[in-house]
Amino acid sequence: MWPLRPRPPELARVVAHYNHRARVYDRNLFTRFIGRAELQALLQLLPPADQALDYGCGSGRVALALAQRGYQVTAYDPAERMLALAREKARRAGLAMQFVPQRALLASQRFQLVTCVGVLDYYPSAAPLLRELAGLTVPGGYLLISAPNALSPLGHAYRLLASPQLPVHPRVPQALWQEAQAVGLRPLACRYAFPALPPAGMTVLLLLQRPAGR
Ligand SMILES: C[S@@+](CC[C@H](N)C(=O)[O-])C[C@H]1O[C@@H](n2cnc3c(N)ncnc32)[C@H](O)[C@@H]1O
Repeated sequence: MWPLRPRPPELARVVAHYNHRARVYDRNLFTRFIGRAELQALLQLLPPADQALDYGCGSGRVALALAQRGYQVTAYDPAERMLALAREKARRAGLAMQFVPQRALLASQRFQLVTCVGVLDYYPSAAPLLRELAGLTVPGGYLLISAPNALSPLGHAYRLLASPQLPVHPRVPQALWQEAQAVGLRPLACRYAFPALPPAGMTVLLLLQRPAGR
């Protein structure tokens, strides 16, 4: 029912980029500053759930925050050097989490909450990734996704800064909301980050629900 995934050549390029960047990823002050603002917005949208999957967990920003709030977290990232950073941070913080380096290892699993932050940025079409995330969510469960905001000048500044290394695709929030509906997901709420001002924030975060019975 939710068959599509991001095309492998795009994924391979993104993974190579993040494996290359992992060594300096957490040292970038700009990324850390924006990252904190995004996390604050995301925390406002957290729904009740026991098990959560952080899809594209990177160095663990969201996954660790979820674990600290009592979710049983599975953290997946195909860039093994990014996943290693997350694993090491969780170890130092004494947080028990599952770390998954390959999508295939999630095949039979479904989660009450799936978070996917800073991943959609790299995919020209949102629908394949939204279907993929929906397929990992239990009916009635929740998805929390982010995208660069095409209505924000900062969203375009991010696109320009990132594009020499990796093309980034800002999205109009209303269009993303409609794309989610088109793949059968129910949009519940929206927040903006950096700044937390609708509709000017650089990042838009959407809370979605996979309808029960689908
Ligand atoms: C900008 S980082 C964000 C990391 C983390 N989610 C956060 O918010 O701090 C993007 C991460 O997404 C991962 N990623 C990109 N495309 C992906 C895909 N199709 N499936 C899973 N992970 C992906 C990358 O390997 C990278 O670690």
